[in-house]
Amino acid sequence: MAEDPVGLDVPTDVSPAELEQIAIELARVAGRFVVADRPRELGVSRTKSSATDVVTEMDQRCQDLLRERLAATRPGDGFYGEEEGGRRGSSGITWVDDPIDGTVNYLYEIPAYAVSLAAVVGDPAAVGGWRPVAGAVVDPVAGELFHAREGGGAWRITADGVRRQLVLEEPSALDLALVGTGFGYDPRVRTWQAEILLEVIAEIRDIRRIGSAALDLCHVADGRLDLYFERGLNAWDLAAAWLVVSEAGGSLTGLDGRPPGSDMVVAGGPRLLPQLQRLVLAAVDKVGPVPVAGVG
Ligand code: IPD
Ligand code: CA
Repeated sequence: MAEDPVGLDVPTDVSPAELEQIAIELARVAGRFVVADRPRELGVSRTKSSATDVVTEMDQRCQDLLRERLAATRPGDGFYGEEEGGRRGSSGITWVDDPIDGTVNYLYEIPAYAVSLAAVVGDPAAVGGWRPVAGAVVDPVAGELFHAREGGGAWRITADGVRRQLVLEEPSALDLALVGTGFGYDPRVRTWQAEILLEVIAEIRDIRRIGSAALDLCHVADGRLDLYFERGLNAWDLAAAWLVVSEAGGSLTGLDGRPPGSDMVVAGGPRLLPQLQRLVLAAVDKVGPVPVAGVG
């Protein structure tokens, strides 16, 4: 992939192709699980950064399932997920999972959520201190799976089993680009994000807020979106989809030469990504810094 913020090497005894197969199989298992085992009365089991930042019992159960399966398959690997229960490893590989990306959609039965699973090197808790090696994102309602490994291309498998390599294509100009974005759970941050969006929206074709960052990024790779930007993402939201975008010929970055991380993620192809980056940077300069540092 083009960005290698830390120059971390993949351990020599590790096969990225094998990690990719594990990611595909487990993302599929987890995707089936969140659809099939959803209780009739799905409630909120706890909240995180705000009253609307919810965790359902299925987020935690899905993460537990992935963690247990990975411990059985590759006991030396670390595990870092959105919900409770991480593990340090000894192999040099850490699995990063978002058991349900798009939890609010899942809660409301809006069919736009995903399971994201990636094998990474480095420390996924440190912005700029890790990179993905292999990963998969499954959209269990559409029955679609996106997968990639370093140097292996980006792929989409549709519900009827058709496997197609993804090659990112770009419109000729920014004002023709359909741009995905998202908003955080803290209302003060969301208001700031809306102010940034006001500076961007007149310069593009239109905006989409689908509600799953992992799917948004995969859709930049498959052409359902042209570009994407969002503040407040964590490693679990983007680990697998980062690789899908970069293996399709695009990239993810932050602002001002920084790596993609919680401050900002901008994603797209080589023609329009720098233009969106400049637009978002100018918007941040005009609007001012986010009012609540460290809150997504
Ligand atoms: C959220 C989704 C959403 C994005 C938020 C994320 P979650 O993840 O990806 O699209 O806008 O920033 O936190 O909470 O549903 O796993
Ligand atoms: Ca997420």
